Amino acid sequence: PSNKLGDGLLSITLPEEFEDTTSFDINKDKSTVSITVVGASGDLAKKKIFPALFALYYEDCLPEHFTIFGYARSKMTDAELRNMISRTLTCRIDKRANCDEKMDQFLNRCFYHSGQYDSQNNFAELDKKLKEHEGGRISNRLFYLSIPPNIFTAAVRCASLSASSANGWTRVIVEKPFGRDSESSAALTNALKQYLEEDQIFRIDHYLGKELVENLSVLRFSNLIFEPLWSRQYIRSVQLIFSEDFGTEGREGIFLSLKYFDNYGIIRDIMQNHLLQILALFAMETPVSLDGEDIRNEKVKVLRSMRPLQLEDVVIGQYKSHTKGGVSYPGYTDDKTVPKDSLTPTFAAASLFIDNARWDGVPFLMKAGKALHTKRAEIRVQFRHVPGNLYNRNFGTDLDQATNELVIRVQPDEAIYLTINNKVPGLGMRLDRSNLNLLYAARYSKEIPDAYERLLLDAVEGERRLFIRSDELASAWALFTPVLKELEEKKIIPEYYPYGSRGPVGAYYLAARHNVRWG
Ligand code: NDP
Ligand code: BG6
Repeated sequence: PSNKLGDGLLSITLPEEFEDTTSFDINKDKSTVSITVVGASGDLAKKKIFPALFALYYEDCLPEHFTIFGYARSKMTDAELRNMISRTLTCRIDKRANCDEKMDQFLNRCFYHSGQYDSQNNFAELDKKLKEHEGGRISNRLFYLSIPPNIFTAAVRCASLSASSANGWTRVIVEKPFGRDSESSAALTNALKQYLEEDQIFRIDHYLGKELVENLSVLRFSNLIFEPLWSRQYIRSVQLIFSEDFGTEGREGIFLSLKYFDNYGIIRDIMQNHLLQILALFAMETPVSLDGEDIRNEKVKVLRSMRPLQLEDVVIGQYKSHTKGGVSYPGYTDDKTVPKDSLTPTFAAASLFIDNARWDGVPFLMKAGKALHTKRAEIRVQFRHVPGNLYNRNFGTDLDQATNELVIRVQPDEAIYLTINNKVPGLGMRLDRSNLNLLYAARYSKEIPDAYERLLLDAVEGERRLFIRSDELASAWALFTPVLKELEEKKIIPEYYPYGSRGPVGAYYLAARHNVRWG
């Protein structure tokens, strides 16, 4: 059973009678949770949401009384939904285990209702079915909106007016995109707030559910050796890197709608949310407590302290076709659905600054791109030189080589490593750079949960820490909107880079201006 106290280095072993305590115990028999996946016929639902719910069920993290409903316009019976879901369920948690029995039990708790997203009547029918399953218990309801953004508001209106819980909580998980600039995002926020309180809205940024992003605060605040160094005094620069080695054709079978991508581009798709969220968590002051509101208060302060991004701080790129080893890889605009003259960036690099006492002058360099040479997401922290370093001569004039670097590799091959200078064993005095390396796969045998598992569990438990509050969202858009508008109004042409390359050379010049080399 899951034990939220953790099972890593710092795990605490509780006496048996205290284990497996969840927040559902108080009203164990009296309450129930119904999870409705709105847009259940879609890609995200099939590939991520249902498998994550199964993983939670497998780990006994869901309450005793729970029901899962799929809701979409497609006509499907319960059996057809189960059949559809079963094709994407795996025994991910323990590959050796035979989880057929658990799968069958899980599938028996899944039902389907077909309806329009803007029909109160159809949601009222859903409400009736939910009530039958709730059997008079306190009803808690979670709606996961896995649908295109243009129908978010209609679905929220109908769900809240016709299918809210009468005696328990009602929560709604919303998927990005949360608008495409400050204005449209504010309009969406206002529209949602007509029907929901802020604490009912769970805006997902799935990067916040990734294990190493979650660990960022643990690393910093529970180790004496990091927090005192976490400032301009010791840190020279921070890099936030996202790179995919495939183009907009998608990942692991998850279809990335090109209509969506061409309208949004990489800055909105990755930087304004995933990378900026990591930056805020990285740079925030110590929160008063681990409470979600305390953490989100600190993140907002960081975002509000950031210097407005200027056009000269940004480099954009777009991948073009490339042939390597006899295989030819298509360019972004080779896709039939993308306009031939599209200027949408598939790559961007930016230098950002936080104008507060802790980070004054420290460049935070972001880089995000598709169709690059590697797939990775990393935070790289470069420390300053050791003042008056006795061993500088070992590095000649290249003092860059002598600085420490802390790397938090979010994915793949999750790891945390610290580059140090070390004496090469032997009679002479030669130094080299070595890594103190915590490779997760070598240290922990347990599978790392998928981000959606953690986020769904948190939403069920009412834990808001990893979801985006509306003021955070507004600050994030305020930072990027002016530069996004300028790029579009001035029709800035992206620098073209070959599929599978390291991206535009402009990104290297941008980093060099701040005395940084990309890691
Ligand atoms: P889909 O495009 O597959 O849409 C989900 C379902 O919504 C479809 O099965 C369809 O169901 C219904 N639908 C689709 N288009 C329309 C339409 N124009 N009008 C009404 N209903 C429609 O989306 P995904 O599953 O790929 O993604 C779901 C959400 O997640 C979207 O908001 C998307 O923007 C967001 N997203 C998530 C990403 C992630 O990785 N987390 C990445 C990018 C986006 P039916 O026809 O049966 O009603
Ligand atoms: C999504 C983006 O939010 O994140 C996609 O829309 C991107 O473009 C994806 O591919 C990356 O997520 P992950 O978890 O596969 O790194």
